[in-house]
Amino acid sequence: MADIQTLYQEAIRFAAEKHGPQKVKGSKNPYVVHLSNVAMELFIAARRTPGMDLSLAIQVALLHDTIEDTQTTKAELEETFSTDVAEGVWALTRDQRLLRDYRLTDSLAKIRQCPKEVWAVKLADRITNLQTPPKSWSKSHKREYLFDSMQILEALMGGNEYLEKRLKAKIEEYNKYV
Ligand code: NI
Repeated sequence: MADIQTLYQEAIRFAAEKHGPQKVKGSKNPYVVHLSNVAMELFIAARRTPGMDLSLAIQVALLHDTIEDTQTTKAELEETFSTDVAEGVWALTRDQRLLRDYRLTDSLAKIRQCPKEVWAVKLADRITNLQTPPKSWSKSHKREYLFDSMQILEALMGGNEYLEKRLKAKIEEYNKYV
């Protein structure tokens, strides 16, 4: 098994190539900024989470949007990385064939079938995304985002104590925008 630094580099390079010119929503930053922020949350969480498989968590973190937002397939992730990584990313992918309102619930149900590392990636993803909302967002959009965040926290209780606490605090903070 390669060391974590090597796995990190391979995954972020793959993700950077796949996401290409995509930017972090509402900013001019390249998409990998979001991905590395999610990975950073997991590095910190791992120090407080006995038994966490950091290799799996980091790879899934860096690749978590490749199926949803790029041409990457589950089979390709399986071949390039591992079945566990591919399954994790697949669970984190919203099924575009479903009506919008059902996509999050469906993804959360899939995540709950996965190892706790995948739960942790979803928690870290939302922690990272709960920042000052873009000016263009309406109040109802912000409320919806907050509601989705609470749904994520509730569905993934027991996934990672440290990240749950962080997400809870972020949600409380976000309340000032709605
Ligand atoms: Ni994300």
